[in-house]
Amino acid sequence: MRARQAGQRVALVPTMGYLHEGHLSLVDRARRQAEWVALSIFVNPLQFGPSEDLARYPRDLERDLAAAGARGVDLVFAPEVAEMYPHGEPAVVVVAEHLQDRLCGAVRPGHFRGVLTVVAKLLGIVRPDTAVFGQKDFQQSVLIRRMVRDLDIEVEIDVAPTVREADGVAMSSRNSYLRPDERAQARALYEALSVGRDRFRAGWTVASDLLKSMRAVLSAYPLVKVEYLEVVDAETLESLSRVSPGCVAAVAAYLGETRLIDNVVLD
Ligand code: PAJ
Repeated sequence: MRARQAGQRVALVPTMGYLHEGHLSLVDRARRQAEWVALSIFVNPLQFGPSEDLARYPRDLERDLAAAGARGVDLVFAPEVAEMYPHGEPAVVVVAEHLQDRLCGAVRPGHFRGVLTVVAKLLGIVRPDTAVFGQKDFQQSVLIRRMVRDLDIEVEIDVAPTVREADGVAMSSRNSYLRPDERAQARALYEALSVGRDRFRAGWTVASDLLKSMRAVLSAYPLVKVEYLEVVDAETLESLSRVSPGCVAAVAAYLGETRLIDNVVLD
């Protein structure tokens, strides 16, 4: 509030905590766009399905506060569930019509309704000039952009590239669930997406050919159970038969009980 009064720009980085280098890269990006950087930590029950991992989602507030402080975050907002939802489930929620039924939304009904509702609340509470999200959660970033556009919410949405481990695995709080043998095979996702991108760069444009070459990579990893693998338009999220620059190859897969997602832009 004081920052705004002083005419400083405010940036918000929304997270569910258990911070890793991916989250902290968003803080760096926020810092380049604003004098005042706020980070929220809230494991949002509204975006978890009844059979999902809400209860066991990893949490370590003390470590997160230290990491955020070391990275120069000015304010950490870490509310309790009762503060965010004092009257229980909100009666008014944000839904993204057909866009929320594609990709992850098709297998996680209600997930994006929970994400958009909490992001709308966080934007309303912090009222940042800019909010930073990760490309790692591609569909989420598309829906949030659409939400602020369609509802005229006055904020800039910035989307940051995916930060990866040395073997290409996208950093994720959920990687902590993986057994060592599962962790070793998690590289399959980015390896497959990279093959798709390389083929596209080499001139392939038929989506079914690209998908076949990516599936061949994934099938070499027996612990990887693919949930979806698609090449989609970056705005409509529709599946494509012909691929053009800017389209996105996206994958979701289980390794044991753990669900991982990743994507690359075909450029
Ligand atoms: P969470 O999974 O904690 O992620 C917080 C932010 O960090 C998201 O914008 C996500 O895309 C970004 N992020 C995660 N892993 C990343 C990586 N490897 N590289 C770059 N960015 C990465 O996404 C959520 O929380 C929630 O749905 C939230 C938006 C906070 C709403 O509850």
